[in-house]
Amino acid sequence: MPCCHADFAAVEGSDRGFTVGMPTFTFGPGVLAEAGDNAAELGLKRVALFTDRTLASGEHVAKVKASLAAAHVDCVVYDEVVIEPTDKSLQEAARFARESNVDGYVSVGGGSVMDTCKAANLYVSQPAEFMTYVNAPIGAGQRVPGPVKPHIACPTTSGTGSETTGISIFTLTSMNAKTGIISRRLIPTIALVDPDVTRSLPANVVASTGFDCMSHALESITARLYPRRLNPAQGIRRPVSQGANAFSDALATQALSSVGQYLVRAVKDASDTEARTEMMYAAMLAGIAFNAAGCHLPHGLSYAVSGLIRDWHVDGYPEGKTLIPHGMSVVLNNPSVWRHTAFAHPERHLRCARALGGATDGATHADAGEVLAGRIIELMRAAGMPNGLTALGFGEAQIDALATGAEPQYRVIKNAPIDVDRDVIKRLFRAALRYW
Ligand SMILES: NC(=O)c1ccc[n+]([C@@H]2O[C@H](COP(=O)([O-])OP(=O)(O)OC[C@H]3O[C@@H](n4cnc5c(N)ncnc54)[C@H](O)[C@@H]3O)[C@@H](O)[C@H]2O)c1
Ligand SMILES: [Fe+2]
Repeated sequence: MPCCHADFAAVEGSDRGFTVGMPTFTFGPGVLAEAGDNAAELGLKRVALFTDRTLASGEHVAKVKASLAAAHVDCVVYDEVVIEPTDKSLQEAARFARESNVDGYVSVGGGSVMDTCKAANLYVSQPAEFMTYVNAPIGAGQRVPGPVKPHIACPTTSGTGSETTGISIFTLTSMNAKTGIISRRLIPTIALVDPDVTRSLPANVVASTGFDCMSHALESITARLYPRRLNPAQGIRRPVSQGANAFSDALATQALSSVGQYLVRAVKDASDTEARTEMMYAAMLAGIAFNAAGCHLPHGLSYAVSGLIRDWHVDGYPEGKTLIPHGMSVVLNNPSVWRHTAFAHPERHLRCARALGGATDGATHADAGEVLAGRIIELMRAAGMPNGLTALGFGEAQIDALATGAEPQYRVIKNAPIDVDRDVIKRLFRAALRYW
């Protein structure tokens, strides 16, 4: 029984339960063509289809539109989604949705599209001033008071798992900080996870999103254990992300073994259908896991990196805009974090290394951080990731600014298995400057 597992033994005053939210999902090649029937089954007559400009004229959106038409569901398209959305872009999307007078939503795209769609749905269904639902302390962090409209999420990248989560992430431009909105009500109603979409994914997007998936799984397993979480709310006020638990452990471990086996193959060969399909499935599993367990240091630190990056562009992402892909900013802090946190739960870190295919034979607890970091560095090199933050133009002179950039992320960072202060954060960034 998971509740009797030694790691999850109750402590004084701790929560005795954990709640896992997820959509009804369908996984398999060709399932995008089921969008119309699902929408009709939900009773939808007219939907807003959210996508981005690159995808709008492509085959995946065409397939979903055809399926909606065949099911006699009207559809208005919004293709102005901003890659790595901002507060402004979310509000523009909400304005479109409000004026379109729809009874449901369909998103076809990566995390940027699905997150934008969740926010538009929220602000039309439960109108409020924008900062009302944004995570505290940046926003007011108020609970979403009622339901949102049905949302069918169709991911086209293999990493964020956003099709399964109650999370919408964006950059708050005035603070140059990434933050988000979290509520079980934002979990899509239905996820149609079709690995055929990965055929058109550029290698760099497969690599970055694959490392995002890897980090979701690693952070789920190494997060503060749920009986020891700092937010003690229980019952219906139990937070969406509650700390490591038996269910997220199982899903995240399975996702890690897929990442270890298939990520590099999926990056290197677009025709490797097996590898790309396995990565699509792993991303979904890791999404369910981290939604329930929560992320911590690698994501918290990544937001400082993405806020401070200058003059950086990666092929496969929109031209003419400085942008570090989310998964790339996340993986760059990974080896540094695991070397530092392993002492808190060496068994858990070794389990992660083993699942990823690391050399754990004969490894002791003292080796856990190094073995896990070493395996991740191997994967980073094989998948063409930059060699630490130095490769992005950061150096000792930026460590202070990076630590300041991480400060708004303490809500996420506190889910780490160790206590973290500014000195620890500076040490982690310093150790992430160069890996090989
Ligand atoms: N809500 C969550 O739970 C969650 C989790 C992790 C990350 N995120 C957020 O998701 C965003 C990143 O999303 P992402 O990594 O999926 O990428 P993305 O949506 O930003 O898209 C990246 C690029 O890939 C292109 N693309 C997408 N699918 C394609 C396909 N099938 N073929 C060809 N090109 C394709 C897009 O047009 C874009 O240029 C970030 O804002 C991140 O913070 C959210
Ligand atoms: Fe992520």
